[in-house]
Amino acid sequence: MAHHRKSSQPRQYGIARRDFLSYIAAVSAIPTIALRAEGQVAQRPRFNGNPFTFGVASGDPEPNGVVLWTRLAPQPLQGGGMPNEAVPTRWEVADDEAFANVVQSGVAWAMPQLGHSVHVEVDGLEPHRWYFYRFHVGDETSPVGRTRTAPADDAMPDRLKFAFTSCQHFESGYFNGYPHMQQEDLDLVVHLGDYIYEYGGVDKRPRKHIGGEVKSLDDYRIRYSQYRLDETLQETHRLFPWLVTWDDHEFDNNYANLVSEEEGISPEAFLARRMNAYQTYYEFMPLRRRSFPQGPHMRLYRGCQYGRLANFHVLDTRQYRTDQPNGDHQKPMIGKALDPQATMLGAKQEHWLMSSLLSSPSTWNVLAQQVMMAPLNRGEGEYRRYSMDQWPGYEISRRRLLRFFHERNVPNPVVLTGDIHLNWVNDLQLDFQDPKSPLVGTELVGTAMTSGGNGGNHIPEFERAAAQNDFVRWYNSNRGYVSCELTPKTWTSHFRVTPYVDKPGAPILTKASFVIEEGQPGAKPA
Ligand SMILES: [Fe+2]
Repeated sequence: MAHHRKSSQPRQYGIARRDFLSYIAAVSAIPTIALRAEGQVAQRPRFNGNPFTFGVASGDPEPNGVVLWTRLAPQPLQGGGMPNEAVPTRWEVADDEAFANVVQSGVAWAMPQLGHSVHVEVDGLEPHRWYFYRFHVGDETSPVGRTRTAPADDAMPDRLKFAFTSCQHFESGYFNGYPHMQQEDLDLVVHLGDYIYEYGGVDKRPRKHIGGEVKSLDDYRIRYSQYRLDETLQETHRLFPWLVTWDDHEFDNNYANLVSEEEGISPEAFLARRMNAYQTYYEFMPLRRRSFPQGPHMRLYRGCQYGRLANFHVLDTRQYRTDQPNGDHQKPMIGKALDPQATMLGAKQEHWLMSSLLSSPSTWNVLAQQVMMAPLNRGEGEYRRYSMDQWPGYEISRRRLLRFFHERNVPNPVVLTGDIHLNWVNDLQLDFQDPKSPLVGTELVGTAMTSGGNGGNHIPEFERAAAQNDFVRWYNSNRGYVSCELTPKTWTSHFRVTPYVDKPGAPILTKASFVIEEGQPGAKPA
């Protein structure tokens, strides 16, 4: 067994001083936070209540490890309720739920600069297996989390099961998909963004945001706290490792790089707010230190490989994009939508993506990303309209990527999309204006967990769009999530829907199932 118990003897609290100093240096790079905590360490912290109100989470699995997360907050909606000092937090990983065989343990620092969040990058674990983990601080112990490592890079597992979702506007309803997701036998949960919404509270909705539109660090922290106190969400984090990316609402609706959707916001004010948003996202998500925020910048695009079966290329289509062309909204595909300088990913991320695709040894190449890639014409008759916020607003970028899939024979590209609060199953054609053009990939668009309300409604614009765009294989307006089962030969997707979200406790229905066969882009009814 490769397992060993990490000795904490030669180390202070299990962290080498060198590591601790570099960690402090990294934290100090965040200019907004005072550094009062240096040198003040709570030896025997006492809390006014259980500090593990946010439970536990794990994420970014690799073959030898995973990120473990918690956040100490005995008074989660009153600023956390923690002393302004660094708090050593013990963590343990075990083979079994009873912790009879602890295989790794150590101490991590809950830093006041990061809202007493804890991110532990555990390594030395075995590939492709379940583990249990928990934290201890003072006399308190966290709930026991369950997590799973990725398979070895050169392994070909028989199957991988994961679910993906997005768009969980709290006020629109209850996260009714999550209790059903918890019952599934999943290796991983993928979240494609709009994990929170930034808007202020509005009366007469199923639930209500605390406070106004979020802007300050405290505002964002309270907003994430409110979401994370939802038991259905928290429990789903406890049960599976998550692979997360953001869309726009983690910061501000339809933002593009330094450009606000509202007029008259200075780039400085916008960047200062973005710094608060990005820091809070990091604080609440089980992310590796490679994603540590650097002021208003944060690297979230990254890979996550499941052996030779699947390779997730997690994208960030917000932080580096050029401004939405033609005044945003829905416009004909003309003018700036065809600007060759326009970019959805930015040059660096696009280069990284293409390199990752070329070197990928995996059968299924998954793009976990935000906005719809198929060029959906939402207009009527000869007046063709496309969303300028989605890939067709960055049409040259879009074509370049699809041509790359085709010319470089990228194995089985499958694009996962959130954002639009509807289900779509789309063929990705090399040239959508040529009906004979080859298919080069498949797009699966997950609907929202709650955003848009109960759903299942008749939306004439989208029904027309589904009918008039030949690449659309399926369209649906319910809320829910998508459950995927991958084998070396097939990718099967079950579109799970909840009939309502305005009350808790909805049942789950499988509205449709589609299968993609290896080597044949495009999904067919299963
Ligand atoms: Fe959304």
